[in-house]
Amino acid sequence: MAAQNGVEKKLFEKISRKMAVLTPQQIVKELNKYIIGQDEAKKVVAIALRNRWRRLLVPEQMREEIMPNNIILIGPTGVGKTEIARRLARIANAPFLKVEATKFTEVGYVGRDVESMVRDLVDLAVSMVKQQKTEEVRKAAEKVVEERILDLLVPPPPTTLSFGTVEDETTQNTREVFRQKLRAGELDDRAIEIELTREQVPTMHMMGPIGLDELGINIQEIFSGVFPKKRKKRRVTIAEARSLLLNEESEKMIDMDAVVQEALFLAQTSGIIFIDEIDKIATTGSTGSGPDVSRQGVQRDLLPIVEGTTVSTKYGPVKTDHILFIASGAFHVAKPSDLIPELQGRFPIRVELHSLTEEDFYKILTIPENALIKQYQALLKTEGVTLQFDDDAIREIARIAAYVNEEITNIGARRLHTVLSTLLEDILFNAPDNLEDSTVRITKEQVTEKLSSIAQDEDLSKYIL
Ligand SMILES: Nc1ncnc2c1ncn2[C@@H]1O[C@H](COP(=O)(O)OP(=O)(O)OP(=O)(O)O)[C@@H](O)[C@H]1O
Ligand SMILES: [Mg+2]
Repeated sequence: MAAQNGVEKKLFEKISRKMAVLTPQQIVKELNKYIIGQDEAKKVVAIALRNRWRRLLVPEQMREEIMPNNIILIGPTGVGKTEIARRLARIANAPFLKVEATKFTEVGYVGRDVESMVRDLVDLAVSMVKQQKTEEVRKAAEKVVEERILDLLVPPPPTTLSFGTVEDETTQNTREVFRQKLRAGELDDRAIEIELTREQVPTMHMMGPIGLDELGINIQEIFSGVFPKKRKKRRVTIAEARSLLLNEESEKMIDMDAVVQEALFLAQTSGIIFIDEIDKIATTGSTGSGPDVSRQGVQRDLLPIVEGTTVSTKYGPVKTDHILFIASGAFHVAKPSDLIPELQGRFPIRVELHSLTEEDFYKILTIPENALIKQYQALLKTEGVTLQFDDDAIREIARIAAYVNEEITNIGARRLHTVLSTLLEDILFNAPDNLEDSTVRITKEQVTEKLSSIAQDEDLSKYIL
């Protein structure tokens, strides 16, 4: 992308550094840390992410010719469609928005047009960048806050009178003593009175078919500076004061214009929009009745956005040309070919995700960095309880999950949640009061005993698992 000015050039370099290491191979390697199987899907999203980057680097006339790599992920529920997209965004540190396509067809739902997804993406990007900048100024802001709190605890003597005097020196010493106490957290519960600056912008709610947001108008912006800043005194503990003042000081240190500029750039070059339930806006009947018309309408509205257009937001115009769109759906009833042809063409890449097997479940329970078993172990660790699973116990959990999916309904990996929470219910309830040992070991026999009878009984498992 042609970086128009110095700032954009810098931002572009920042993204370049990140993308340099994110080769397709590397992306898949990262995805593998969290998602089991679904190799084709991983490969395809990795290529799409990289291709967007390659496309940004291509000379301008050629760039226009290259189609964006938008993707449709097809697969049953709970097999990793959303998870892959979400992880991809995390890996790329990209703003990621998930929307349900059906949300735009809801009857009587006024004011949410399809373009709002782009606005929401930008909002996300703004808070992402703001958070990042806050982190960057944190050290500096903490320093200022410490001085402000010290000023309240040990008011400095008027400088003109006491400079270099004995009085000045004692104050300095006292101040240092308090600084140590403050840092050690010894004063956290003490109450002090602080003064916070607050701009008074009245909250306004405009009703009507078109929200202000849709017009790209930012009320806060228009009125900022118009209303007087109000200083407000509050009595709080030092611990609270620290966090309140930290907010105020970091806000002062952050240049919001720069945040917005970076966020717009980030959304346009790295943004990912995940459109879920795209199959629900496909139409199977050829005659257009009521809901079909509305579904087709949504598809039509999607066309320009997916292809590349400019959407006005309260932060300024946003080009959607390089936003990566990943659509997803089960496509049980409708098929991708039931989407209007123009939209099909704009999602040229299709990939199918597979139902998960017992073996996959075993891996999902054990391999990912955030694997469910590790989550429960971490939860119980907070109570001083060590939770251990025998390997064949985990195999048994996987077997039962696969069995219930087959017999009742296939809800994919989400089944592991219901199975595990049923299995661990007693332990979670009894910790820490009622456990004899600080180590709990789960054996295969326990899993069978606790779960098999439920799993075998169709009625029971319908309700419990
Ligand atoms: N292949 C997988 N590897 C690891 N975890 C998985 C996998 N598939 C699903 N999960 C886990 O199962 C849960 C649901 O997965 P996800 O949200 O991706 O489902 P989905 O395919 O988007 O389903 P839906 O169509 O219902 O939205 C998540 O917690 C995810 O971590
Ligand atoms: Mg999903």
